[in-house]
Amino acid sequence: MSDLVAIVLAAGHGTRMKSSLPKVLHRACGRPLVYYPVQAALELGADKVVIVVNSQTRAKIVEELSLHVPSDKFSVAVQEVPLGTGDAARRGVETIELSKDDRVLILSGDVPLLEADDLREVVTGLDSKRCCLKLMTFFAQDPRGYGRILRDSGGAPREIREEKDLRSSDERQITEVNAGVYAALAGDLRQALGALDSDNAQGEFYLTDIVPLLAKTGTVTTVKASEQSLAGVNDRAQLNEIEEILFARIRRRWGKLGVTIKGRPLIDESVHIEPEALIEDGVRLRGKTRIGAHTHVDVGTVIQDTEVGERATIKPYCVLSESTVGANVQLGPFAHLRPQTVLQDDVHIGNFVETKKSLIKKGAKANHLAYLGDAEIGEKSNIGAGTIVCNYDGFLKSRTVVGAGVFIGSDSQLVAPLNIGAGAYVATGTTVTQDIPANALAIGRVRQINKEGYASRLRARLQSAAQNKKSKT
Ligand code: UD1
Ligand code: CA
Repeated sequence: MSDLVAIVLAAGHGTRMKSSLPKVLHRACGRPLVYYPVQAALELGADKVVIVVNSQTRAKIVEELSLHVPSDKFSVAVQEVPLGTGDAARRGVETIELSKDDRVLILSGDVPLLEADDLREVVTGLDSKRCCLKLMTFFAQDPRGYGRILRDSGGAPREIREEKDLRSSDERQITEVNAGVYAALAGDLRQALGALDSDNAQGEFYLTDIVPLLAKTGTVTTVKASEQSLAGVNDRAQLNEIEEILFARIRRRWGKLGVTIKGRPLIDESVHIEPEALIEDGVRLRGKTRIGAHTHVDVGTVIQDTEVGERATIKPYCVLSESTVGANVQLGPFAHLRPQTVLQDDVHIGNFVETKKSLIKKGAKANHLAYLGDAEIGEKSNIGAGTIVCNYDGFLKSRTVVGAGVFIGSDSQLVAPLNIGAGAYVATGTTVTQDIPANALAIGRVRQINKEGYASRLRARLQSAAQNKKSKT
């Protein structure tokens, strides 16, 4: 088959978004809108994808899309002035080297639900005589705003009439509308685009006018699609509706791949999950997150750009960002892993424990109420409840290195920089300010004194003082 090239139109202003961000960079399921048609075209087998942008949005669109699609897979064409969809398509066609038999697919940047499978029929069977243009149409519940498909007496598409150019109430009644998806051979398309004029209600070059032009030399055919797959984003209400559909699709996809999904977790398009993982309701998985096999992510947990190993248990309401979690780790509930946390296998991090830029080695535990920042905790060490690493003096951060098999008693403060040797033991309530040699005991607390019978005498004294005060008032 001949080469396939896709042109994605995205130079319009998108004013209804009421946004300083270009419309096609608004995100759905963690990806910019324009990612979706580009990805669909690539999956369909397009050799090149050209995105038509305007000069104000060009840099931002290239920068953002490069985070989601390899930059050698797409290029941009600039439309300086928004002279209409026909002019935009012309800019796209001009920037690529095409032989006349190459197939060109035209898509809109703001129609994210279309998938490669929906597009297969549009790009097959093109031929200059018998089938010179294929376009997708659907029957709209409410056709207002769409171009209407006008057919001749034989039923062949003859023309597309834009809303603002409709001439009669008969035309207004037509519910079959243009989806904005077209395919033609490059030679035919070039010729038709070159012949467009702007003699219409909006004074624009309408891409839709290639229909009558090409109907003169060959046959134009339509491919029917569902309204749902062709929904476009024009404002933020539609963005939300479309994102819901995409999230449901993503849940379904993982469900088919052996992942158990409970309720409606929100999983970004870029996330990867291994089979037999269990993802519960209210979970939010973002960015480049990966979840290992048999791992359980319980309700309310938010995970961003984090790799979680297999058979881990993440209890409810944890927050994990830019971290790495090993196999068999137990986390939470209510644990907070901040960026650059690495938990090796079998680590336990319990409730109200916060970590930042720390390496917690195999089998170590910090089960309750602790802060571990700029720290390294050795294998099988135990960090007691309420332990705080004092890593910041208001100006500089310092490191705390704890060896293997160390026991840190509850409510200790570890004042960095600090080295605690393997097998050391820190007594409860110690403020550690000096390095501790291996296997040493560190204890730094005021000695306790017990005064026999003193509590009863103290209570009696306090009680009579309180009574005196009351009787005077
Ligand atoms: C267009 C079609 C209409 C169809 C509808 C489907 C035309 C004339 N009309 O109308 O028949 O039913 O899509 O959604 O084509 N764009 C540019 N440069 C421009 C103008 C637009 O790149 O100068 C881009 C936009 O960014 C957008 C796409 O082209 O991605 C469609 O433009 P839009 O203004 O939304 O067209 P509609 O009025 O919706
Ligand atoms: Ca539109």
